[in-house]
Order: sequence, then C-alpha cells, then structure tokens
Amino acid sequence: MATILGAITSAHVPAIGRAIAQNLQQDPYWKPFFDGYPPARAWLAKAKPDVAVIFYNDHGLNFFLDKLPTFAVGAAAEYRNADEGWGIPTVAPFLGHPALSWHIIESLVADEFDITTCQEMLVDHAATLPMALLWPGGGPWPVRIIPIAMNHVQHPLPSPRRAFKLGQAVGRALESWDEDARVVVLGTGGLSHQLDGERAGFINREFDLMCMDAIVDEPERLTQYSSLDIVREAGAQGTELMAWLAARGALTGRVSKVHANYHVPISNTATGLMVLENQPAPLARAA
Ligand code: DHB
Ligand code: FE
Repeated sequence: MATILGAITSAHVPAIGRAIAQNLQQDPYWKPFFDGYPPARAWLAKAKPDVAVIFYNDHGLNFFLDKLPTFAVGAAAEYRNADEGWGIPTVAPFLGHPALSWHIIESLVADEFDITTCQEMLVDHAATLPMALLWPGGGPWPVRIIPIAMNHVQHPLPSPRRAFKLGQAVGRALESWDEDARVVVLGTGGLSHQLDGERAGFINREFDLMCMDAIVDEPERLTQYSSLDIVREAGAQGTELMAWLAARGALTGRVSKVHANYHVPISNTATGLMVLENQPAPLARAA
C-alpha cells in the first residue's frame, strides 16, 4: 500500500517563476515569501516521498475554455511544461507513474467520480512552481508526479465539498495500491485573490487565516461553503482553495500541522503555505 506521508499546500503565482530565475529570493519584496519554504524542504528531506500527487488547476496551457474537464487525472509517463508567456523559464520534464495513475483512475471511477483521463498532459505554473519551490534547481526531480487538474476557472465549478470528497477518494485509492510508494500530496493555488474585474486586488486575510486554521482539524467546516461563497469571501481566483481541500481530503489518518507561512501580497495574491503530516490511523488500517 502507498504510505500517505502528508500534504503540502502552496501558492503558485507565476511571478514566483521569474523571481527564481532572477535569484530574487533575498529581495525585500520576495524574502518573506521564500523564507516560508526551507522548513517544508526540511520536512520533505525527512519524509522522503517518491511520488507527488498534485491537485492544481490548469490555466489554459493544457485545457482551454472550449474543453475544460471538472477533474482530469494524468496517466502519462512524462509531463512537460511549456512556455505560458509569463516570462517563466520552463522546467525539466517530470516523470509520471502510469501504473499508480491507472490505479487511481480505476478506483475513482469505481467510486463514482467521472473523471477525464489524460495520457498526454502539459503541466503549467500551478504544478511546476510549487515543485520548484519544494525541490529547487528546476529538475531533474526526485519524485514522480501524478497531476490531478480541477476546474477552478470556468463556471460551473465543483463545490468545495466535492473537491474534498475527490481528495478522500484519492486517499482511498492510494491506500488500496498493492505496491509500495511514499506519497506526498500537493494542493496548489490560493489563497484569496482576484486578478480582474471590479474587485481586482481583493484579499481577505481574515478568511484565509480561518481556512488555514480549519483545514488542519476541521476541514469539513470549509465544505459548508458553496463555490460562489468562496468567490465572495476569497475572490474569483480564491476558488483555488479547493485544491487545498482536495489535498487535505487525501490525508486518511491523524493530521498535524508541521509548518505554515502566510504572506500578503505577492502579485495581488495572498500566498499561503502549509505542511500537514499524516499519521496513519492504526485502527483504520487493521480493519
Ligand atoms: C496570478 C496567476 C495565478 O494563477 C494565481 O494563482 C495568482 C496570481 C497572476 O497572474 O499574477
Ligand atoms: Fe492560479
């Protein structure tokens, strides 16, 4: 069975890619953001995952508004990044884990999630930048990845409850895998931000901090919100919180907070980082 080590949730603002390329980690604007990451890297060095399941949203690189699946699971042997036009250098390709991807896909469909299966898939900044923050250097990457893209872009969005349940179903799939794997689950995006429209620049610190608190022990509290509630409370792109909920849902055991950082703003976005450790529940395992 796969061991679910924990989850890391992180912002994925495109400007981070440019800041990495220009070595701006110590720049006063960037320092409070980048300073959040060494403790996450230290936790990874101890946890030693070999697979990262990444809940994220594609921003038009692989899917566009004409064809936008609600949930899409990668089943490729390799995932490439491509130029998105933000001035972010592309990163080295990621190795996939087709066998585990197909197991997750079969398990999700059996669990009544009618997902899209992607045997080819480009991954955008929402997958690459958290990877680059957690494993600096731009590749080669020490983990294989399984990208799970969620629609946080175009109405109608899945509900926060559905996002959480997707994560729970992925957690069940990982636990029913009959080979060994050490898995870290990533949830990328958020926290509050709105990039355009009348409320461009909208940030809700109080709501963000409430979410970062609740997601540790009471994630179901956050599933009481509708996706439109999240738009109201966290801005139109704040709906990326749902990737955090999916990642949290995949933690099947007792969850503890190892590390958190919150910094406002980076590129009109409230950036959050959390490391949540998963302690498998012995009773659930024995059952
Ligand atoms: C921006 C883009 C994103 O995908 C995001 O989550 C936050 C900010 C941006 O264009 O600045
Ligand atoms: Fe985004």
